[in-house]
Amino acid sequence: MKIFGKHYQTIWETDESISSVSIIDQRLLPFEFKIVQLSKLEDFLFAIKEMQVRGAPLIGVTTAYALYFAVRDIPPSKFDNALYNAIDKLLSTRPTAVNLRNAIQGCLSEISKEADNDAKVSAILNYARHLWNSDIEVCKKIGSFGMELLKEIYNLKRDTVNLLTHCNAGWLATIDYGTALSPVYFARDAGIPLHIWVDETRPLNQGARLTAFELLHEGIPHTIIADNTGGYLMQKGMVDIVIVGTDRTTRSGDVANKIGTYLKALAAKDNGIPFYVALPSSSIDWNISDGVREIPIEERDPSEVKYVLGKVNESIANVLICPEESPAKNYAFDITPARLVSGLITERGICPASEEGLLSLFPEMKGG
Ligand code: MRU
Repeated sequence: MKIFGKHYQTIWETDESISSVSIIDQRLLPFEFKIVQLSKLEDFLFAIKEMQVRGAPLIGVTTAYALYFAVRDIPPSKFDNALYNAIDKLLSTRPTAVNLRNAIQGCLSEISKEADNDAKVSAILNYARHLWNSDIEVCKKIGSFGMELLKEIYNLKRDTVNLLTHCNAGWLATIDYGTALSPVYFARDAGIPLHIWVDETRPLNQGARLTAFELLHEGIPHTIIADNTGGYLMQKGMVDIVIVGTDRTTRSGDVANKIGTYLKALAAKDNGIPFYVALPSSSIDWNISDGVREIPIEERDPSEVKYVLGKVNESIANVLICPEESPAKNYAFDITPARLVSGLITERGICPASEEGLLSLFPEMKGG
């Protein structure tokens, strides 16, 4: 999608010899647009942990490239050591997004088909490229299925469709298009009038900083709201549909997403407003069923709650917003139980948030 009228994606190979991969440093948006190069495992660990890149699908693709750079110049005698050391470190960066683990498993499965090290390194690179390409295709499909929901609302209402979203599950969280926001871009292209309510999404304000930034650059009408505003808007009939993304969805349809998502789902249920979750199948954890009990919830540094990043005059600054001595807690995600989810928008279509629903679209996962 576009920034300043130019098409960008969130990660790309810098040159033909792949001296590095380039990313947009999302920590600095919307205040500064900076492209950063990653070429060492440490660069990738920092980028994922400190959220230069973030969003489950983008974390997955970045992880595959991290493994490639971790092993590509390693002599055969040290190959396995370097690979498993990188895997351990990557797994500890961001525990909730299952795309990270799925990307590692995908790389390992490709490596297992090869005998010599050069072929293993190529297999990882090919897998990273495959994930990159398939993420774009998957997000487009999510967009075209999700657009039908927006079209239905428009056909009934014949007026602007008001969609509320939480965090950033737009193109900045994927390679291009996004998950929750892909239907918005497809609907815009189909001529459906839209307005997006953007939850600010404390503590890191991915809504106010990133979702607003990408909607602004795509010319989509939107309004930033404080996180606690959604319930009021729903009571007043000012929200037609909620669409969010997910970092991990269980086989029974429980959804982990940015902290605060659960409260929006409760408010939507109470007000009879459809609450949809858009996801690539790479965000499904087929091994677990009980989201509240089984999904690991990332706890981040409390300083992210106590300080807010902003722009003061021409400088970017972190401002303390509470007594410095007060303790804070920073749970990054919460779980929305399947019973509160109206449906899951996937690359294979829309299904109920249940095991039966998911298996109707992904029958190959039966019994697995
Ligand atoms: O902590 P973040 O910014 O990585 O959290 C991102 C989200 O919660 C997104 O909604 C989720 O990863 C889905 S992205 C398509």
